[in-house]
Amino acid sequence: MLKLDMRSPWFSNLSVILGPRPPRSWLLLCLIIVLVVIALLGSSSSSAFDAVTYAARPDFYTNYRRIREQARNDYLELRSLFSGATHPREFSLCGREIENSVPCYNVSGNLLAGWKDGEEFDRHCEVSREQQRCLVRPPKDYKIPMRWPAGKDVIWSGNVKISKDQFLSSGSVTKRLMLLEENQIAFYSEDGLIYDGVKDYSRQIAEMIGLGNDYEFLEAGVHTILDIGCGFGSFGAHLLSLKLMAVCIAAYEVTGSQVQLALERGLPAIIGNFVSRQLPYPSLSFDMVHCAQCGIFWEKKEGMFLIEVDRLLKPGGYFVLTSPAVQPHGNSLNSKKGSILTPIEEFTQKLCWSLLAQQDETFIWQKTGDAQCYISGKQSAVPLCKEGQDAQSYYQPLLPCISGTASKRWIPIQNKSSGSFRSAAEIEVHGVHPDDFFDDLQNWKSVLRNYWSLLTPLIFSDHPKRPGDEDPLPPYNMLRNVMDMNAHYGGLNAAFLEAKKSVWVMNVVPTGTRNTLPLILDQGFAGVLHDWCEPFPTYPRTYDMLHAKGLFSHLTSRGCSVMNLFLEMDRILRPEGWVIVSDELGLIEKARSLATQIRWEARVIDLQNGGDQRLLVCQKPYLRK
Ligand SMILES: *[C@@H]1O[C@H](CO)[C@@H](O)[C@H](O)[C@H]1NC(C)=O
Ligand SMILES: *[C@@H]1O[C@H](CO)[C@@H](O)[C@H](O)[C@H]1NC(C)=O
Repeated sequence: MLKLDMRSPWFSNLSVILGPRPPRSWLLLCLIIVLVVIALLGSSSSSAFDAVTYAARPDFYTNYRRIREQARNDYLELRSLFSGATHPREFSLCGREIENSVPCYNVSGNLLAGWKDGEEFDRHCEVSREQQRCLVRPPKDYKIPMRWPAGKDVIWSGNVKISKDQFLSSGSVTKRLMLLEENQIAFYSEDGLIYDGVKDYSRQIAEMIGLGNDYEFLEAGVHTILDIGCGFGSFGAHLLSLKLMAVCIAAYEVTGSQVQLALERGLPAIIGNFVSRQLPYPSLSFDMVHCAQCGIFWEKKEGMFLIEVDRLLKPGGYFVLTSPAVQPHGNSLNSKKGSILTPIEEFTQKLCWSLLAQQDETFIWQKTGDAQCYISGKQSAVPLCKEGQDAQSYYQPLLPCISGTASKRWIPIQNKSSGSFRSAAEIEVHGVHPDDFFDDLQNWKSVLRNYWSLLTPLIFSDHPKRPGDEDPLPPYNMLRNVMDMNAHYGGLNAAFLEAKKSVWVMNVVPTGTRNTLPLILDQGFAGVLHDWCEPFPTYPRTYDMLHAKGLFSHLTSRGCSVMNLFLEMDRILRPEGWVIVSDELGLIEKARSLATQIRWEARVIDLQNGGDQRLLVCQKPYLRK
């Protein structure tokens, strides 16, 4: 195995491996040797990249390294030729028409395929199965987003698809924005750049559930909020500043997409619909579900959407609905006898929710903390789901029954230890041994330190450090939207938090692996179930970093195309965004050659712990043509 010590302080325990010993025929080996010799001879007079003189190393040394790298590439190409594979070629850019599109959400295609009655807006991956293989290009006026936290309040208007009149339609408190300059959009900010009452609204909700103000949400057991139809994320941005995790979920929109805008600002968001299927979360996932004029007709479909909210809510959790459509009949709080209830109120009673408060157009219901409530002989109550009926929650049809009542996780949010998720009993509820969990976390802390030192474009240069230069440190706010594609216990997310990095992590639990999503959500993190053989429900260019540990090992057993997965990763990655793949040597090699076809800069890193695990660190370039 050829190893090379980079002799740079931030590579102290890592070294770049230029390639494994080829398990191939002598013929190939000879070819490579010939290539190297020719290249060496050819380059001895070359000074193409000696424009700057480096005192640390003789030129020959750096030349030699580049040549070996080249020889290795040639070897890989030759090998794929010899093994009968088609010659790896670079993918070209897709047409402009799909620069903002999300596969599975092709409305015209869905209509053609026969979906109707609103279901054409739902996710139908089977309709867009045949995608052309190309790289989704950035819009003409695309600019690298501003860094967090500045990028939270101001974005480049060329980066998102939005029409002129959408700037002007400022409906609810959570849906205001304005055009600042010709090419910038500004949002509400804490420091009052545009004041639109989000703070007052948040305090009002806190008071309605009996708290002094919104700083007390955490103490009251509210950590995670699902914000349906989040506008442009301003309410969520405010909650994030209070150390709560608010995830925006909204339908696919062709222009002015709430999800695209929220993610562009660095706020957690994902595409999801209330149409005919469950959201990809397990039961008992969120402490609060919020809807401010979110466009869902809650009273339709025999209350099925409210049953879905009940499924998502933890016991004792809150449903906050702000809507001019829900007009109270008299005083709703005193409407127990005789008076006509609105359809929504009728449903909420069947669901064992109690109306806590009502003010102006805002209603707050609390889900019961008592599982017995559903079975205590109520005539019209919604039945409990049969055992196993609610086990799979990956876009399965909406169910007309109550989930989660028999779960070990049925613990009212008010009874949980406030603050961090650290007691052994809370971990054991998930069938995980606390030692296992804490060892994992410890491990991730040191792994993250290594990763961080790798995330600099200099890793791809021949001269990682110039004499007299400071050690390059990645800027503290370089990353904001991070996706852990195979999140396990959410250890990477926890390590990021401990290291006080300004990121949030979308923790993805792949279908077909152990479902650790409840453990992730109960730590107050964002997460979702996803089948990586399908496109992820997000817009192009929405993540700064994708992390995939052991994902390829898992996927090769599923039999779907790794090439398609790479194209999908390229789609959701911002230009200049990073990919870290951690897997066994053979798969990393394959991943490296795919990365080259996708035109990512890529480096294989040997962890030097004697195992066959390797890292592949990649950066997506900003391709204009
Ligand atoms: C959507 O589907 C239609 C009809 O199948 C197809 O012509 C069109 O190219 C698709 N659009 C995208 C963006 O994939
Ligand atoms: C929650 O706490 C209350 C008051 O401390 C207690 O009465 C109740 O039994 C607890 N519920 C559960 C499910 O632990």
